[in-house]
Formats: sequence, C-alpha cells, structure tokens
Amino acid sequence: MDPILDLARPSILRNPYPAYARLREASPVFWHELLGSWVLTRHADCLAVLTDGHRFASDWRRAGEDVPAPLLSVQTLDPPEHTAVRHLLLDGFRAQDHRGRQEELEREIADLLAALADRPSFDLVGELAEPVALRSVTAFLGVPAPALDWFVPMSRTVVDGMDAGLWPEKHEPAVSARAQLAEYAGGWLADPPKEGLIAHVAERAPDSGVAETVVRNSLRAVLHAGYESASRLLGNASAALLTTPGALDAFRADPATAVDELIRYDAPVQADARVCVADTELGGVTIRAGDPVTLLLGAAHHDPLRFDQPAELRLDRTPNPHLGFGRGAHACLGASMAIRLAGSVLGALARDHPDARAVAEPIHRRNLTLRGLDRFEVTLRPRVGEEART
Ligand code: HEM
Repeated sequence: MDPILDLARPSILRNPYPAYARLREASPVFWHELLGSWVLTRHADCLAVLTDGHRFASDWRRAGEDVPAPLLSVQTLDPPEHTAVRHLLLDGFRAQDHRGRQEELEREIADLLAALADRPSFDLVGELAEPVALRSVTAFLGVPAPALDWFVPMSRTVVDGMDAGLWPEKHEPAVSARAQLAEYAGGWLADPPKEGLIAHVAERAPDSGVAETVVRNSLRAVLHAGYESASRLLGNASAALLTTPGALDAFRADPATAVDELIRYDAPVQADARVCVADTELGGVTIRAGDPVTLLLGAAHHDPLRFDQPAELRLDRTPNPHLGFGRGAHACLGASMAIRLAGSVLGALARDHPDARAVAEPIHRRNLTLRGLDRFEVTLRPRVGEEART
C-alpha cells in the first residue's frame, strides 16, 4: 500500500510517528506521485524551506498557478503583498487586551469544568476543546460565537478539503463549506463590532493599501486557522497528558515549557506546503522550480537528529525548536494566544481536577494535514474508593 495513504489507517492514525520514522529512514526527501509533490521528513529540511521565502513560495502564482480571489489572504500571499496585510493583522493582535480577556476566559473555563465534573464522564473534544476554542477566537475577533452545531461540521469539511490531494472527493464539499464560512464572515468589515481584532482592522484597513478582499479573507482565515488549530491542540494535548502516567502532575511545574513539548509531541498542524520557485538541492535531491513541496512537520518533530528521545513526552524539554507554529515570514500570528489558551485549559485541569483521566482511547479524525480528535471520553471524578479522601 502507498506509504502516505497508509498514514490514514486507523491503527497508524492513532500513532503515526513510527510510520514517519520509516519514511525518513527509507528516504528523507522523496517524490510522491499521488500528491504530485516532494515530501520532506527531516527537521533541518523543513526548517530550511520554511525560512527560505525566496526559493519556496506560499503564493502559488509565483509558480504560474492560478489562485482564485477568495483564496488570496495573509496565508497565501508572499512579500511585498504579504508584508502589508501581515502588519495590519499583527498591529491588531498586539492592540488587544489579552489580560482582560484571559481572566474572563479562565472564569468560563473553571465554570465549564465544574459543571463537567458533575457528570460520570464527557467528551472532552465536543464539550470542552471545541466550545472553548470557538469562544476564545470569536471573542478575540469581537463577534459572538456562532452555534457549534452549525460551525463545527462546516469547519471540519474545510479541513477535510486540505487532504484533497489524496482524496479528491473531499474537494467540492470543502469549496461549498468555505463559501458558507465566507458568507458568515462577509459582513464583518462593512458593519464591524465595537471591540476586538475586526474593529481594529476595519478602522485601519482603508489606509493600509491592502485590497479589501484580502483583508476580508484574512480575517476569515484568523477564525478558521485559529479555531481549528487551537481546538485540535487542546484535544491532542489533553490526550497526551491524560494517557501518559504522571504527565498531568508534571504539567503544573512549568506550563509554558510543557505546552511547547505537547505541540512537538503531537502537533495539530502535521503538514505544510510550499512551491519551489528556484532550483534547490535538499537532502541530496534537486527540487526544480515549479515542484510542490510537502513538509511533514509531525515527522520533523520526531527527528532524532534534532530531538533527543523524540518518542518520549518530556514536559521540561528545553530548548524545544519545534515547527508547530511554522517559522519565517508565515509563522503563526496566534502563537502566544494559543499558548495562553492551552495553559489556561490544561492548567485548570491539572490544578482543579487532578483526578482527570481517560475512560476510553482517544479517537482520531481521518485527517492528515491537521491532526485532531473526534472524541475523547474523560472523567474528572475521583476513582471509586478514593472519594472519602478528597
Ligand atoms: C489561537 C488562535 C490562532 C490564531 C488566531 C492563528 C492564526 C494564524 C494566522 C493568521 C496564520 C497565518 C500567518 C501568515 O501566513 O502570515 C497562522 C499560521 C500558522 N499557524 Fe496559527 N493561529 C492560531 C493557533 C495556532 C495553533 C494552536 C497552531 C499549532 C500549534 C498554529 C499553527 C500555525 C502554523 C503551523 C502556521 C504557519 C502556516 C504556514 O507556514 O503556511 N496556529 N496562524
């Protein structure tokens, strides 16, 4: 069977890292016919591509490809267009009252966990990670959170489309779902909220020199990239903490260092893509201008040439040069927000609910670009017989 399609088999989806290691050992840089792309599995090669915007483009028009207008955003442009929209957003990210919002969010998380603690068990993905991530990202944007039962399936369909290179049937539904998302976010600029990122950007966009469609698409990307990456981070990290003996206790010692390790250990963004625009040698192979390149960040995070004992979850690992937030010109704008969010949710679990544990194996979604859970049944209650001591 094809080694990339193989990654979606349920037994491998649960833990793809040994399969990545086999790919890396067989050939660290290889051409994959079905993807029509080079595949990179080493940390050094992925880092080289992410930080070389001259030879590896995010804007596929530089390789002669057509990019439809609804897709032009901060994620798909390169300098100089990228610089202007990135600065507009960056300025808005910096201007937000992170501390005030964080305190409010922490109260909401504490209340939600207290309510969930009354139940025998609950699905940590659908009842904690997804609502908290959506609430956090929409509050940051300055808009009310949409209904979960509308937003979550639509957003998942967009994510499924990221793997359309392997499963072409995922493409069309993703295009329709993206159109729904665009319609939902379409009025934000014309009728902006009073506070939050949208308010900040709407006020400054007319003088920024950035095309209005690009601003609109980029705000939509903040919602989608932020929600999907953050909810998956909360799910993956909780699964690692609750299925590794002693990890929840160890998390309390240094939450910021621990969050970095949880991202390295089981990152939400497992793959990233660029297109080569000038012939380059990587891992003994010549990548030609026009060739697509797929960066398996998940494999890079378990590269023994970069990380000592990569299969071990070491919550005190420093330094931790993971690529989970990307690197270079397109590095994640929400990284510090995501670290704070994960610190709040996982910190509240570790501090207030030390009896938290899995009652079933986490179940993974069949996605390869973004890695995340479908369900994870958890209890916060003490084990029977231990109640008397609490
Ligand atoms: C908390 C909310 C988050 C927001 C608002 C957010 C927003 C963004 C935005 C706007 C970009 C595009 C930057 C650009 O292209 O110049 C980006 C890139 C990225 N984000 Fe985030 N993000 C969030 C959380 C996360 C999390 C939790 C992860 C994974 C741990 C993550 C991983 C990435 C990666 C890998 C990229 C680089 C993509 C590339 O190189 O093409 N993000 N993020």
